[in-house]
Amino acid sequence: MDRIEDKETLKFITCGSVDDGKSTLIGRLLYDKKAIYTDQIEELKKATKKYSDTNEQLDLSLLLDGLSSEREQKITIDVSYKYFETNKRKFIIADTPGHEQYTKNMVTGASNAKLAIILVNGKKGILDQSIRHSLICSFLKIKNIILAINKMDLINYNASKFMKISEQFNDLVKNFGFESVYSIPISALYGHNVVKKSKDLNWFKGQTLINYLEKIRIKKKTNKKFIFPVQLVSTDSKNKRRYLGTIRSGNLKIGDKVFLMPYKEENTIKTIYFSNKKVTNAQDGQPLSLELKKEIDVSRGDILCSQPTDFEISDELEANIIWLDKKQAFIGRLYYIKIGYNLFGAQIIKINHKINIKTGLEEKSNTLSINDLSVVEISLEKKITISSYEENKKLGSFILIDRVNNNTLAAGMINKVSTNSKNIFYNSSTVSKNDRNKLKGHKSKVLWLTGMSGAGKSTLANMLEIKLYKKGIHSYILDGDNLRKGINKDLSFSEEARIENIRRVAEISKLMYEAGIVVIIALISPYETDRVMAKQLFKKNDFIEIYVQASLSTLEKRDVKGLYLKARKGKIKDFTGIDSPYEIPSSPDITINTETMSKEDAANYLYNKVSKILRVNNN
Ligand code: ADX
Repeated sequence: MDRIEDKETLKFITCGSVDDGKSTLIGRLLYDKKAIYTDQIEELKKATKKYSDTNEQLDLSLLLDGLSSEREQKITIDVSYKYFETNKRKFIIADTPGHEQYTKNMVTGASNAKLAIILVNGKKGILDQSIRHSLICSFLKIKNIILAINKMDLINYNASKFMKISEQFNDLVKNFGFESVYSIPISALYGHNVVKKSKDLNWFKGQTLINYLEKIRIKKKTNKKFIFPVQLVSTDSKNKRRYLGTIRSGNLKIGDKVFLMPYKEENTIKTIYFSNKKVTNAQDGQPLSLELKKEIDVSRGDILCSQPTDFEISDELEANIIWLDKKQAFIGRLYYIKIGYNLFGAQIIKINHKINIKTGLEEKSNTLSINDLSVVEISLEKKITISSYEENKKLGSFILIDRVNNNTLAAGMINKVSTNSKNIFYNSSTVSKNDRNKLKGHKSKVLWLTGMSGAGKSTLANMLEIKLYKKGIHSYILDGDNLRKGINKDLSFSEEARIENIRRVAEISKLMYEAGIVVIIALISPYETDRVMAKQLFKKNDFIEIYVQASLSTLEKRDVKGLYLKARKGKIKDFTGIDSPYEIPSSPDITINTETMSKEDAANYLYNKVSKILRVNNN
């Protein structure tokens, strides 16, 4: 029994489409290895009668298509995992659909896969899709490929056709960085060369697919140094701190010297608990809780390791990312990054290039769309211990998350600390914001007025400023229209340009806020994500989001600048509310409806709300 437990597991993904016979191949692997349970075979016989158009007794492709709607379409639309084992190895197959829009599934399925089977239909040869799948595999850093040339029965088991396809493939993927590419002729339908050798293919001297899968040596990182990301800190009944997590590399024993990253603080392992029992040592992959000799402040996501010099500490990294969302990615937009146990803000600061999936060539771009593969520079909200994906798959991979709806936007693999990193250090000044606030006698705040053009942002901002001025409060208005005549005159109204507009205004606001001023912003700022980005720059409660509300019909009637009419006539493009979106704030601090309130009432209302938080003496 022990021997079986010791068996190595090989996870591989299968790439190909319905047409290539992928489901049949997987079904064949499982069926010929008797990995299918008998009741499933009964099911399959029934389904074969109902749905299949093959004359084979069992249509193995049906085995894999879980949903009946999929059966009817004869496509597989999600990743499904199959487990089987031989007496040499255990296998996990991640079956990922071949359709262009399902890159997400492929990315999911490929995580931790060591090998990919690229399946092609021998009759059709290499398709764009085969190269696209290979490119994604290469991008996902899968190093071992099996090119399974299927449906050999349809091309009379012709050796030269097989050779031609194999050569063409090898030529096309020669720069993809694969460590091994093994071509094999098969007929999944008849089971030739999958598990059993075939007389019809006796010219092929290589191994059967299963033999190759059993024997292929997968290079492993030999780095066995101890790495333990802290998942949780708890205190026991005696108020002793315990650090919980899972060993991600190497071994550990009591008395070992460890370092807490990113602070590089030295410490010693005092106690190791495994399944709540004290143990003297622990291995890679084990979930543990630890006590350290010196009780220290550790946060979730910090790392205990044996070799601090193995890591670089940085807040900028270079990564391969796959964009997975329908919403485009933009430079400068603020996302969440989930990396190890860390979750915090991150921005794409540069798109080095994206890879054209059709040609495999690198292209310049300022945005990313769904399914784009690209190499980017990412700036993180704080410095962390950086590990490359090659070094450590768990620590070196991450996802980007939308800050508003929590959707997963991208999956990424760290290549290295960014070369973009400019070694810039923040110089803090001795006179603080608080000192400046004391000097002026009021707090500094950012009052961010958002709303559509003509809603009354600038008017309100002005009236508010007069009131503040009269009370001796030093404020300054940053108005969208005005800034677009100066610092932002290079910016258009595309989504990309608006993000940059907001970023700049938010950064300028930050400087003025630090200088002790009440900053009033009048900016359409139509995207919720970007307003959140601006807000993140400030202390909680120091950024006040004020939604200046008016309906589109009212705005079109007011049309003080005549812009709505022009936009309706198509003379202005990307006009907010007409052919460019305005995302209504989901939880503004203050809402002012300029349809129902007079200017004076609105300004008074705003002043009353704001003056309270500025702690102004109202006399
Ligand atoms: S934002 O969307 O990037 O925040 P901003 O507040 O700087 O916009 O500028 C908006 C002002 O620019 C409007 O009040 C209007 O006067 C002018 N403008 C010109 N073209 C457009 C447009 N396509 N969409 C919105 N406003 C426009």
